[in-house]
Amino acid sequence: MSQATLNVDLDAVVANWKFLKNLHNGKQTSAVVKADSYGLGAIQVTKALIKAGCERFFVATLSEALDLRAKLPTIKIYVFQGALKDEEAEYIHHHIHPVINTIQALKTWLKIQHENPTALEAAIHIDSGMNRLGLNFSDLNEPNLQAIKSLRADLLMTHYASASDLDSPQNAAQFDLMQQAEQMLPHLTTCYANSAAHFLPAKYHGDVTRPGCALYGINPLDNAADMMQNVATLTAPILQLRTLDKHETVGYGATETLPAGSKILTAGIGYADGIHRTASHRLYGFIGDYKLPQIGRVTMDMTCYDASNVPEKILQQATYIEILNHQQTVNDLARIYKTIGYEVLTSISQRVKRKYTK
Ligand SMILES: Cc1ncc(COP(=O)(O)O)c(C=O)c1O
Repeated sequence: MSQATLNVDLDAVVANWKFLKNLHNGKQTSAVVKADSYGLGAIQVTKALIKAGCERFFVATLSEALDLRAKLPTIKIYVFQGALKDEEAEYIHHHIHPVINTIQALKTWLKIQHENPTALEAAIHIDSGMNRLGLNFSDLNEPNLQAIKSLRADLLMTHYASASDLDSPQNAAQFDLMQQAEQMLPHLTTCYANSAAHFLPAKYHGDVTRPGCALYGINPLDNAADMMQNVATLTAPILQLRTLDKHETVGYGATETLPAGSKILTAGIGYADGIHRTASHRLYGFIGDYKLPQIGRVTMDMTCYDASNVPEKILQQATYIEILNHQQTVNDLARIYKTIGYEVLTSISQRVKRKYTK
């Protein structure tokens, strides 16, 4: 183990997907694999989910779609951003489904479909309260409804802004608006639920669900115990062990002092690998069941741990330390970093090698 490595348990991804599908009463559940499956590897995750029966995959950008398409020639790929200016030909050529977020995009894709029989169905995205991206509910006037009805479209999407808080009244407000939209567009298959919304009553889900974070072991709910399986294990090579022969400081700025006899373990991982520097002094590393407090500042390529509580024999045999695992999960790191699990995973940099287990 000569470099920092992110081990991705694809069986755990599939187990999490099946858990969510079960919450959706076994009905169609797709997968959000944008940002390289939240940093874990979109190709590998998508292949594992195809085997499990997943049929639709969502990414954020055309370039993410093209990366997937290059390896997976037949799957259904939807792009949340939709076809931006001058991208339309790529959508047609690579058989990619755009999400329609603006009236202009609706008109453009309608024209394109008219001229190109092979241009695929679009998804219609209504912004029901997020105020971020999508058609406004007020856009659903007669001429626009006619345009949507003449479009080859399959999905009617929305995105809940507060689903991670199951008690938020915004969930019902958005759902009520979508019920009105459904009445105007009854021919479309509805697609509403992100991970968190799987825990709302089934009627909130729509026909097809669209989870992301929970597939990757992130707890989708704000105030509930985590139910998802841990997917990611991040390890770093042990570069050096030292024993302090006197009371001394560790690291840049001499921010930490340890007594004589303390054992310091230096691991080859730092903020250039995605370990947040703001987490200095608050992280742990693990060798088996031994929990090692991180000491001194997280630096670009190295992080130090106090290994004084680890028996010498175990220390001498260890070649790596775990920073993210079932003992310090992505949700724990999110609390330590003072951010969300999404950012913990997507900030693990490309310098970290990815390994997959099934
Ligand atoms: C439009 C849309 N749908 C679904 C998802 C998946 O959400 P989550 O990762 O919370 O399950 C996202 C993620 O940000 C999104 O932007």
